[in-house]
Formats: sequence, structure tokens, C-alpha cells
Amino acid sequence: MTTFPLDRGYAEELDAADPLAGFRDRFVLDDPSLIYLDGNSLGPLPRATQARIAEVTSTEWGAGLVRSWGRWIDLPLQAGDDVGEHLVGAAPGQVAVCDSTTVNLYKLVCAALDAQPGRNVIVTDDDNFPTDRYVLQGIAAQRGCELRMIRTDMDQGVAEDVVRGAVDERTALVSLSHVAYRSGALADMTAITRIVHEAGALALWDLCHSVGAVPVELDASGADLAVGCTYKYLNAGPGAPAFLYVRRELQKRLRQPVWGWFGQRGQFEMGPAYDPVPGIGQFMTGTPQIIGTVAVQEGARLLGEAGMGRLRAKGVALTGYLIGLADTWLAEHGIAVASPRPDERRGAHVTLSHPDAWRISQALIQRNVIGDYRTPDRLRLGPVPIITRFTDVWDALDILRQILSDRSYANLPATPATVT
Ligand SMILES: Cc1ncc(COP(=O)(O)O)c(C=O)c1O
Repeated sequence: MTTFPLDRGYAEELDAADPLAGFRDRFVLDDPSLIYLDGNSLGPLPRATQARIAEVTSTEWGAGLVRSWGRWIDLPLQAGDDVGEHLVGAAPGQVAVCDSTTVNLYKLVCAALDAQPGRNVIVTDDDNFPTDRYVLQGIAAQRGCELRMIRTDMDQGVAEDVVRGAVDERTALVSLSHVAYRSGALADMTAITRIVHEAGALALWDLCHSVGAVPVELDASGADLAVGCTYKYLNAGPGAPAFLYVRRELQKRLRQPVWGWFGQRGQFEMGPAYDPVPGIGQFMTGTPQIIGTVAVQEGARLLGEAGMGRLRAKGVALTGYLIGLADTWLAEHGIAVASPRPDERRGAHVTLSHPDAWRISQALIQRNVIGDYRTPDRLRLGPVPIITRFTDVWDALDILRQILSDRSYANLPATPATVT
């Protein structure tokens, strides 16, 4: 049973008491009627980022031209330290902003396998994000390793006992997502990392759906390696570079497979043989994407100003409120909550299931409510804690119950042509 008032006035009260309310004006949100619940796919544009990109393009690139490399060259590791400090609990010198999540995953998995001779099993779960599964399949095929897929409940996420049962003395690496992309289930990083370490293996975490959404403590949790994207809750924009984390004690032991010149000691000496720099810099590859990197830096600093504690508290409150309204208003229309209910087991988005989820997601978009669809029959609603209001959640769920009750979705195409 819902324990809060169901009227819109209650959402207005929550908004009035929201300590983060002032941050909404610091984003470019041109359409006041748009309800944006897809922060888990692409975050909104911070005004500070817009201004910094304008400055970088006009002054640094436009006027400074190649002379600006002097200030750009260290940006990937500086932005990495910003991500480490504000968002993922990593002391300086362990995070680099570079490449895509997919490429960083490839680099770190290969490095981890090479560092664990005699162990040739990689463990992941069957509901991990597709790119993670594909990269691991590819590496296993190329190297003749065994890829052990554990079974995961699509809605409840990775179970610690199942991980315990899958690791042994042959396991080199366990690679999992911290927050599940479909359900938002939040794994216990510390507990699972401990299980992995007891088997003598390394733990790699994909933070795409957790960075900026839930507090992450990489150093304190004992995690060995991590990767993550920056275009979701970190708000760095489409295709902005990803990041990777390598625990300091491992940096000497690990050698990444892409021997690029941006990881080279004395880079501009143009020497004959690859000789990587010590430290996190060796995990760089080629010329970094500067405009995207400054967007990562601005995004991390803005979230740092809001504070991960307050962002997490608001994310929990928004998703709890959403679940309560869904239970009360939507269950009679065949909607079920397909995300963990305990706050501590959930990231910042909520997934609802319905046999017509695809058509409903399209009907919502027609009514200016942006969520998204995921197979097989899931509707994801991802509030953006730094901008989303409780009234946005109330209005979105109110529109959703109207769509379900008048069945206005029923005439839309039954299946997605393409889903992005
Ligand atoms: C868990 C997870 N890993 C990886 C990715 C994507 O990786 P990339 O940025 O390389 O496309 C996503 C994208 O949504 C994701 O959710």
C-alpha cells in the first residue's frame, strides 16, 4: 500500500523542499513541456559545458590552433582525477578519460588476462550489457579462454551466491555491471569483489549506469578495474569519451594490448620501440577527443558540486515515488514493476513491464514524455536526479495511466523498426 498522498500537491511540496532544485536552471532545457526520463541513456546539457565547449572551440581551437595542445595534453588524466574525486571514489592517478567503454573494456580485460598466467576463465552474467558480453566472447574466442556465463534474474540482478559458485582457481577475471542496464538492479560491489578475490581473481566493474547516479567507492570496495561511459548521468554528451580505472597497485603488473603513442614515455621523441609511461597514462591509446573530454570534466565538477550524497538521496526518493504511483495507478492496467524494490538494491531508473511496452513507450513520446524501451517488454523510466522534479514524475505517471486507460497506444506499430 502506498503510504504517501497521491495528489499532485504532494509532489509540489516535495519539489519545494528539494535541496537540489536550483540545479535545474543550470541545464539547457528549452521545452518547458518536455518530461525527460531518459537520463540513463543520454543526460541533458549543462550550461557550463555549453559555455566551456564554446570557449574551447573558439579560443583554444579557433585562435590557438595547434599551440593549444600544451593545455590539452594532460586533460584526459585531469578529467580522470575529477571523475575519481567527485564520482567514483578513486584517489588521483587511477582514472583516465579516453576511448569508448567498449574499447576500454577490451583493453582492461586483455591486460587482466595477461597478468594472470595459468588462469583462463572469464566470468560474466547472461544479462550483462550486450557490448560487455560481445567483447568478452571475442576475447575468449581469440585467446582460447573459457567464458563462463552465470545466470542472472533479469529484474533482480546478479546474486552473490551465484558468483561464488562460478569462481574457482582457474578464474582470471569476473566482469559485471554495477547497475543493470535493463532493471536498474544495483550489485553489492564490495561483497562481490571480496568473493572474486577469495578465488584469486580480479574484479572488473562496468559503471555506465552507476557513475553520477549512485555513489561508487572504487578504492574502498577493493575493485581492481572499472570502465564507464560519460553520456548518461555524467551529462557529457553523445559520444563523449569514456573512462577507465586501474587500481594503483595493479598498474605496474598490467600491460594493455593497444600500444599507442599516447601511452608512450617521451611521446614526442618518436622513439623506435614502445615503452609505456608508468601509471594510469599507459592505458591511453591515441589522440584524445578534447571537446568531449572538457565536457566530462564539467559534468563531473557539476555533479561534485551537487554532491553524490544528495544526488543519491534524490534518486532514491524519485524512484521510490515512481514505484509507489505505478503500484497504485498502473497495476490494474497490467503494468508490473520490474526493478528491485529495496532502495539499496536499485540504481536511479525504474523499469516497468507490460506486453505492449514498445507501443506504450511510443505513445508516451507522442505526449512529450521521454522514457525508453528495452527488450523483451520493458519500459525504462530514468529520472535525472539533478534536474527531475517530483511533479515531472507525477505528470509522467498521470499521462501513462491515461494512455493505458484510453488504450491510445493500441494503434501504433507493434514492434520497433530500430531501437536506439
Ligand atoms: C552497461 C553498459 N556498458 C556499455 C555501454 C555502451 O558502451 P559504449 O559507450 O562503448 O557504446 C552501455 C550503453 O548503454 C551500457 O549501458
